[in-house]
Amino acid sequence: MRVTLCFGGSIISPEKPDVDCIREIAGIVRTLKTQRHDPLIVTGGGGPAREYIEIAQKLRISSSGLDKIGIDVTRLHARMLISALGDLAEPDPVTTIEAAVRAALKNKVPVMGGTTPGQTTDAVAAMLAKTSNSELLIFFSDVGAVYTADPKLNPKAKKIDTMTSRELVNLVGGKRPAPGMKIIIDPVAAKLIERSKIKTIVVGKHELKRLPEIIRGAKHSGTTIVPVSE
Ligand code: UTP
Repeated sequence: MRVTLCFGGSIISPEKPDVDCIREIAGIVRTLKTQRHDPLIVTGGGGPAREYIEIAQKLRISSSGLDKIGIDVTRLHARMLISALGDLAEPDPVTTIEAAVRAALKNKVPVMGGTTPGQTTDAVAAMLAKTSNSELLIFFSDVGAVYTADPKLNPKAKKIDTMTSRELVNLVGGKRPAPGMKIIIDPVAAKLIERSKIKTIVVGKHELKRLPEIIRGAKHSGTTIVPVSE
């Protein structure tokens, strides 16, 4: 199955790159390839992206300049995962969705970070899933599911097991994300998910080893976002 995987910076690089997590991701991607799945990968910027953005803010860099710094960090994480994947991966982080699809067609695993200011890698993943005709889009994040509110800020937040893509759009709102802003799925991505009608799952890092089962339709501890049929 063709599947787009988005590894949030919050799991691959919460404060700094997590070597064990990067190795675990590489191992599971290897398993997916031996099972003849076709994964395409997006990596986030995590703590280091936020740190560089904060420093750059003090240097009074413009908002799109801050976003570009975030994009550079996401690509650095892509390169780290590529190193762990070895020959399986396209040798450099791809910088466009089209290049990612071309690499996948050559049977190489494309790994990419951000592309355009004004969004996050969530939107890149949603676009990649659509353009590559992925059957499934999976987000790995530290929160591990979509909640009714940010569970780190609101103890009354409730986990959502299943929701429609329209409900996701309503939950995350329509605002452009500020550079470095933390949100479970960015609004640009939520809109793309709604429009492209791709089944989407949000799960935590602890589900990584179960990824082959989850792809086959097994239950998981996160949130399933189902398309709305018109
Ligand atoms: P992330 O995708 O890592 O954002 O991009 P995030 O929501 O903080 O996700 P986690 O914490 O990694 O899971 C980091 C920053 O890079 C810029 C944005 O400023 C974003 O906040 N960025 C990223 C872009 O401007 N465009 C992109 O396509 C990707």
